Amino acid sequence: MTTALYRRYRPETFAEVIGQDHVTAPLRQALRTGQVNHAYLFSGPRGCGKTTSARILARILNCAQNTEASPTDTPCGTCPSCVELARGGPGSLDVVEIDAASHGGVDDARELRERATFAPARDRFKIFILDEAHMVSNQGFNALLKIVEEPPPHVKFVFATTEPDKVIGTIRSRTHHYPFRLVPPDVLLPYLEQLCEAERVPVGGGVLPLVVRAGGGSVRDTLSVLDQLIAGSDASGIEYGGAAALLGYTQASLLDDLVDAIAAGDGGAAFRVVERVISTGHEPRRFVEDLLERLRDLIVIDAAGDAAGAALRGLPEDQLATMRVQSARLGSAELSRSADLANAALTEMTGATSPRLHLELLMARLLL
Ligand SMILES: Nc1ncnc2c1ncn2[C@@H]1O[C@H](COP(=O)(O)OP(=O)(O)O)[C@@H](O)[C@H]1O
Ligand SMILES: [Mg+2]
Ligand SMILES: [Zn+2]
Repeated sequence: MTTALYRRYRPETFAEVIGQDHVTAPLRQALRTGQVNHAYLFSGPRGCGKTTSARILARILNCAQNTEASPTDTPCGTCPSCVELARGGPGSLDVVEIDAASHGGVDDARELRERATFAPARDRFKIFILDEAHMVSNQGFNALLKIVEEPPPHVKFVFATTEPDKVIGTIRSRTHHYPFRLVPPDVLLPYLEQLCEAERVPVGGGVLPLVVRAGGGSVRDTLSVLDQLIAGSDASGIEYGGAAALLGYTQASLLDDLVDAIAAGDGGAAFRVVERVISTGHEPRRFVEDLLERLRDLIVIDAAGDAAGAALRGLPEDQLATMRVQSARLGSAELSRSADLANAALTEMTGATSPRLHLELLMARLLL
């Protein structure tokens, strides 16, 4: 294992970009019909594919196979430009990537303006990717205004940013704006499954849902978490217990024991779980968050019956079976009441000096 997963799996075509169909489909349609704008704005949360897509767009625009007579939305992959702009390639003279975080000043903008007047060295367009575009200073944007408004025909701009509101309106209004989104679990899970298969890493049941949760919808963060788990695994692969512990999640078994104790009205057992939570170094607030999530899942099972498996994708079958029993034992009313109590406790725990006390109070209320 050499480079990070998120580098090795950086998409090179729009078909490989996941979870952004609302952006890639219309963009590809425009490319196929040769309707190319002179400036684009890719916005959205970090790690969801903005920079990657800017590079893919540049790769398509400058592909030797992409001509006025036969426009395409897929880079050929073999022409000199495509090879240079491939993952791990050296980059191309005609695609200029500028990190506005370090080059967002007015002098940088003026220099860019100058460079844009030159014809492309070899390919069809001279493409400027302005990454982290919200970091361009107002003066910088003003220096760019004219060229973004009326660029020479060989010049294209792609702005990428997490904060489109900070791109001044006069520039923004000249662009086609494509908002990227966080990627939902039902798209990320199968992607990770595929990736682990390609990497030949065996993964225990329930591990990937934890990874998806830890990544918070950012593909890059999700891949980094997975990378770390793979790095710490041996030939037997990634096991659930180790992954949950490393990521700070509550072991499913702790939640199982607690829910069983509540269903049985067994106070002794419930407080023993609290003891284990504290003694194993779990944060009480995190534990209640995880409990709330479990109760939510049980409510889904209660409401959806046999269809719950589809709604709770990624849960191993044996865990789902256990949870079906728990859901039936507690019943709709008790589940709903418990979730309300856990939710209220979570609010009270924010900033509380003794979160443990609130956890114990919650136990007492759940047992009432
Ligand atoms: N939509 C996506 N589909 C597939 N991989 C993605 C996606 N978004 C991000 N990635 C992964 O995360 C890495 C970083 O993505 P990047 O495009 O730099 O994110 P940002 O939106 O912050 O510019 C990529 O190399 C790729 O591995
Ligand atoms: Mg980026
Ligand atoms: Zn090509």
